[in-house]
Amino acid sequence: MKKNSTTISTSLSFSLRPGVAFKTIVEELKRRLEQIGIQFEAGPHGRITENTFEVGRVKAWMPGKRISIDWHQASWEPDEVTTVEFLFKPSRRGTEIRLEHRQWGRLIDNDTELAGWFSFEIAAPFLRAMAPQAFGDWMTDRKARRPSGPQSRAIYRDPLFHYPNFRVILSELALKSEDYLLEVGCGGGAMLKEALRSGCRAAAIDHSSDMVQLARKQNGEAITAGRLSILEASAAKLPFPDSTFTCAATTGVLGFLSDPVAALAEIRRVLGSGGRFVALGSDPATRGTPAAPEPMASRLSFYTDDELGNIARMAGFSEVSVVRRDMEQFAREVGVPKEALPLFAGPGGPFLLAKKS
Ligand SMILES: C[S@@+](CC[C@H](N)C(=O)[O-])C[C@H]1O[C@@H](n2cnc3c(N)ncnc32)[C@H](O)[C@@H]1O
Repeated sequence: MKKNSTTISTSLSFSLRPGVAFKTIVEELKRRLEQIGIQFEAGPHGRITENTFEVGRVKAWMPGKRISIDWHQASWEPDEVTTVEFLFKPSRRGTEIRLEHRQWGRLIDNDTELAGWFSFEIAAPFLRAMAPQAFGDWMTDRKARRPSGPQSRAIYRDPLFHYPNFRVILSELALKSEDYLLEVGCGGGAMLKEALRSGCRAAAIDHSSDMVQLARKQNGEAITAGRLSILEASAAKLPFPDSTFTCAATTGVLGFLSDPVAALAEIRRVLGSGGRFVALGSDPATRGTPAAPEPMASRLSFYTDDELGNIARMAGFSEVSVVRRDMEQFAREVGVPKEALPLFAGPGGPFLLAKKS
């Protein structure tokens, strides 16, 4: 069979210095590979495994410069070894990173087939990543729907513009030390931190592992004291027994839920009788504003006050109402800069208040 020596490469220039670029790429790659079922043990003796098969073994690990990996892309042809390299070159902008896969062997012995594989598996996914649907989805996930990465971690650690919402929710909940609060979609745990000041106990879930880690770090003391637990889980299936909590809250999450009635029914299930529930809705008036900009806006579901109330009723809640609160006052209290206060002007809200009877 003919021996091909095809090289596939892609490159990117950015302003990070090579050492930082190296660390960042390794961290992000490790996380993404894990999500798609591939384990990347980083480091000079690192390995890349898919299921139990060793796809790659690190041959050179030079932080800030180069990673070279012996690569086996066919478990059924273990002697077929190619090379994958990451090259980090200082450039005028900062760093140019190049990813190369070299020495395609005899695994695709026909060049028409090679063109087919390249089009299907490399070029089309590459172009899809550059097209609005996938790019907008990635950005929505990264920033809000399942936040991850250093920028989101920095934002959700102390989300100043969310504190006015937290204030409204906490004032409606009027927490007492005997309360046991559930927060669904806790992000970086900033509202939990405020809530715990009441002396209550709390639990929270989020489906972003980055956010769960951050929220745990931000609330380490309460966790150690046994007052708080934070789990990676989906709003669709809460990992708690029936009637566990005295109250529940969610903010910035409702519009992302594919089945809000089912999710609210789950929240109701884990509330004890008399349990209070407060949620920030997703106001259609915010579509396309700084509170819900594109590409998030076209991926969010927005609900009118009536729709929001009906979702809660369909989920089995009673004493349902939707209230608006003057957010500007709260924004001032939490230290939102003067020039941003107009963002909080207007009717505010909508906040859903409900009870499990
Ligand atoms: C816009 S952020 C709001 C975070 C936080 N509540 C705040 O206001 O700062 C939405 C959060 O909800 C989480 N989330 C969205 N959909 C979820 C779901 N179905 N299950 C669990 N968490 C979810 C995201 O991972 C993200 O942390």
